[in-house]
Amino acid sequence: MTDKMNPLPFNTSMNPGIGRYHSVYNESIENPEKFYDSAAWILDWYSRWDSILDKRDEPYYRWYINGKLNLCYNAVDRHANGGRRNKAAYIWVNENGAEKIVTYRGLYKRVNALARAMLEMGIRKGDRIAIYLPMIIEEPVAMLAAARIGAVFTVIFSGFGKEAIAERVNDCGAKLLITADGGYRRGKVIPLKETVDMALETISTVESVIVVKHTGQNINMVEGRDYWYHEITNDGHEVEPERMDSNDPLFILYTSGTTGKPKGIIHGNGGYGVWVANTLRWAFNPLETDRWWCAADIGWITGHSYIVFAPLILGLTSVLYEGSFDYPSPDQMWKIISYYEVDILYTSPTAIRALMKYGDEHPIAHNLSSLRVLGTVGEPINPAAWQWYYEKIGNSRCPIIDTYWQTETGGFAISPALGIGIGPLKPGSATLPLPGIDPVIIGQDGKEVGEGEKGLLFFRKPWPGLMIGINKGDEKYRSLYFGKIGSYYFTGDYAIKDKDGYFWLLGRADEVLKVSGHRIGTIEVEDAILSSGIVAEAGVFGKPHPVKGESIVSFIVLKQESASDSAVDSIRKFIRDSYGPLFVPDEIHQVNLLPKTRSGKIMRRIIKAVYLGQIPGDVTTLETEASVDEIRDAIDRFRKEIIRTAGS
Ligand code: WT7
Repeated sequence: MTDKMNPLPFNTSMNPGIGRYHSVYNESIENPEKFYDSAAWILDWYSRWDSILDKRDEPYYRWYINGKLNLCYNAVDRHANGGRRNKAAYIWVNENGAEKIVTYRGLYKRVNALARAMLEMGIRKGDRIAIYLPMIIEEPVAMLAAARIGAVFTVIFSGFGKEAIAERVNDCGAKLLITADGGYRRGKVIPLKETVDMALETISTVESVIVVKHTGQNINMVEGRDYWYHEITNDGHEVEPERMDSNDPLFILYTSGTTGKPKGIIHGNGGYGVWVANTLRWAFNPLETDRWWCAADIGWITGHSYIVFAPLILGLTSVLYEGSFDYPSPDQMWKIISYYEVDILYTSPTAIRALMKYGDEHPIAHNLSSLRVLGTVGEPINPAAWQWYYEKIGNSRCPIIDTYWQTETGGFAISPALGIGIGPLKPGSATLPLPGIDPVIIGQDGKEVGEGEKGLLFFRKPWPGLMIGINKGDEKYRSLYFGKIGSYYFTGDYAIKDKDGYFWLLGRADEVLKVSGHRIGTIEVEDAILSSGIVAEAGVFGKPHPVKGESIVSFIVLKQESASDSAVDSIRKFIRDSYGPLFVPDEIHQVNLLPKTRSGKIMRRIIKAVYLGQIPGDVTTLETEASVDEIRDAIDRFRKEIIRTAGS
């Protein structure tokens, strides 16, 4: 596979050459204490750590023991009170053409004002707060204000519905929720506060709600519970940053896994801060004068680490964008790059493929010459999309930094390292591990596989960005991530290592889908379908999709009394309203029976294989062979239906 790949050399003046990479990498593995000691000085600390790593409670690793710091201080204060005070921290733009530039000093004022308001509402260190905001300045401000006073925040993606909000808020026990009246997306106004009001009906922990006025739409404000952001945040109040222990929690971010309920991944202060700031430098080598655009949503880890914490810690200027990349016109992304003279663009393969489909005339019509480095994240990038990105967007002169990592890893793990030295790039490979990451690929026999052989990807050594735990999920933390091979961290991904030591990520090995780069559990979607109340059984799996990477396919058995022509439509509507559009299956097929194991577990693998026309593999554990035939029948019927509708 890799022999066909034509490596692209990058020996620009920006690249110090691969040689230094190897010496830095080797030092990180051979002498981690020394390596992580100097890596930590990217942050300012109130007091220095006693030791670098405490492994006594393996697999709970603790970093920078007894070190005290505040990440809000590191991200904001030290720039706001120094030479970067008038530098833009954020250039905010939205799809309607609105623009707002916030300097480091301006950010400092906003963060302090909100931190004061939170304290006045009784929020204290260790309390949990939830943030459900669109991509506006107040979103990083809320995260930083929480970090400043030591409140643990959880950001809930603004595309999620009421059920998804309630599930997360109830799991972490947030006392305060920060939201907005609404947000903009594809010319529509998204009703955020209205969704929060519905979610609050099944939440008991939230005492107060802060509401940002953004769209100006009519909303319901509850006396004594809901407060307007602009009425409670007054300038002139400064709040002393809380001295946080390195291993105090910073945030909880929910992500999908192999079980129905999302897991609350907890990240700490010290190790996480050190990791995100260093990895951004290693991988992208941003310059002081750069405009950095991480075109992700803050609701995901990419936004937490590389829109908020890392770029601010490094004192960079970020573009923050609210809206869709192809709205109001297909060249929206290129317009923004050209107008704001973006130096580094970091986006997802799905976005690249979607924009590629609109045709080359759109990027060609804009001056993209400010771009120096390009990045991608979230799912494997297919070589065709890589080439297009490289040639049409980067004009064959910008290296593509394909960063492989996860919510759990805190920051990049495997990626070309422009700041240390990169070798020839290969389209579709994340190349080599970053310092401190010690990957190994394990086969079915539990041993390391040979060159070019597929296996499961593990990391042998802990690194500072690793999560510090899972909210109420001690058992899951141990069994899902460290329960397979000794103390090795299990990523959940398949990978191959080629003869040059480059890693090729091949997708998830578990019940996790990557739909448009978003992580969605099959069981989570099944649970959502079942909670519509009209479905007896559901089986969900992913199918390759040319733009989204994967699409969600579901097979359902309706409850007998619920059979009706509109059943499928009402399931879609229910999931969209309760969980959000991300969870709505692209295909819902009705059948009378699903293949199950003798113990009653639905065999997604079989449904998928039959559906995709592959050999269903071992069916001996199935209840009846007839159910497989059933599915084949249903698919035949479905195919015929498609042909009929397409032909008319
Ligand atoms: C999963 C983690 C990491 C931020 C966004 C996603 C897949 C991520 C790549 C890449 C191939 C990738 C993996 C991983 N993934 N980046 N560059 N190449 N696959 O974070 O939602 O926690 O998802 O995304 O399957 O396990 P996440």
